[in-house]
Amino acid sequence: MSTIHKRKTCRACLSKKLLPILSLGKQPLANAFLTKAQLKKREATFPLAIEFCPKCTMMQLSHVVDPAILFANYHYLTSASAPLIAHFHAFAEKISASYISTKEDLVVEIGSNDGTLLSALKDSCRVLGVDPAKNVAKRAQAMGVPTVTAFFSEKVARQIVKKEGNAQVIVANNVIAHIDDLDDVFMGVRELLSGSGVFLFEAHWLGNLIGKGGFDQIYHEHLSYFSLHAVQALAARSDMIVTDVEIVPIHGESIRFAIQKSGVPSKRVLALRKKEISLGMKRTATYRVFAQKVARVRTELRTLIDKLLKQKKMIVGYGAPAKGNTLLNYVGLTAQHLAYISDTTPLKWNHYAPGSRIIIREPAMLSIEQPDYALLLSWNYAKEILAKEKELRTKGVKFIIPVPEVRIV
Ligand code: TMP
Ligand code: ZN
Repeated sequence: MSTIHKRKTCRACLSKKLLPILSLGKQPLANAFLTKAQLKKREATFPLAIEFCPKCTMMQLSHVVDPAILFANYHYLTSASAPLIAHFHAFAEKISASYISTKEDLVVEIGSNDGTLLSALKDSCRVLGVDPAKNVAKRAQAMGVPTVTAFFSEKVARQIVKKEGNAQVIVANNVIAHIDDLDDVFMGVRELLSGSGVFLFEAHWLGNLIGKGGFDQIYHEHLSYFSLHAVQALAARSDMIVTDVEIVPIHGESIRFAIQKSGVPSKRVLALRKKEISLGMKRTATYRVFAQKVARVRTELRTLIDKLLKQKKMIVGYGAPAKGNTLLNYVGLTAQHLAYISDTTPLKWNHYAPGSRIIIREPAMLSIEQPDYALLLSWNYAKEILAKEKELRTKGVKFIIPVPEVRIV
């Protein structure tokens, strides 16, 4: 595969009719943080735009970047975000209570990252992580979580079955949206699951993207923006069925699917289907309105930042998540606008945000070079962060929350 290719069919239902909804321009990869030496070179940029499938309601990126470029070396660590650790520990407890019956049971996690979820399960059953990023897989192994460094596929699933047997649970959190060939993954899941096994997959929910969420969730890693409708169509292609679904409050609102080889859809599945219809998620017009809302955020945020800089205010970024880079680059904010971005991930410190080239600093900087305003790029953790930064706020630091509407707190 070349570096990038244009997707011609819907990833969930293979329909050829895809409607362009929103273009965020050409952008660098959202996780391609730069070293100082790399600043000398021009960055590669790729089209960033989404398309809608009216047949099954799948939303997806128009272009697919070669996963070897995106995921071979990965800066994202689950354990860097305290709210995420809490979320996954609660999820681990739920898996253990609902699906694990003996210590011999096997839980496989696709995109196991640094092993945060599996390490919470490894005392109650057998666990196996699958993740292509060597640097983060190493961290998982150091925590005692056995990890296969590979992209999950039908072939990898077969190898796991041969060595470890079938899995009672397969988990995939915020990773299925990264994968272009979903039929290959779903066939692999089918192969690996035991007869009564369950595939639990969590992803950002399309209903949140167009509702209370932010367009900054759109970046090259996120190929798909899932609705229940689309995943039902997708599961059917590998002869599986969505038996349960839940909206969970992480990354705005995520959707957690339970998919099995047989069973009946729960009441919650039927209720969410109705809700998606009532939210207009089957109608193209709904997505046109969303695109207009995004353009409005750009204008408002740009106007606000320009006004504050004229008043000689110092502004920084708070949190350097991938989505922050979509936002900064779409709005056109650079090191001329934000003095630095504070982030808790040591791997990101003294690196520069792709495109905007704003330096990332350790959080201690916030009290050393105290800003007037902090643009909350990690807005999905607004509640936790505003509580955590009480002291800064009493000292007068104001937070700008950029999405879904620009506001100052
Ligand atoms: P995420 O939204 O993909 O989990 O990424 C969150 C990023 O924000 C990650 O780089 C860590 C950073 N972060 C902070 O800097 N401070 C915080 O209080 C939290 C919760 C996250
Ligand atoms: Zn489709």
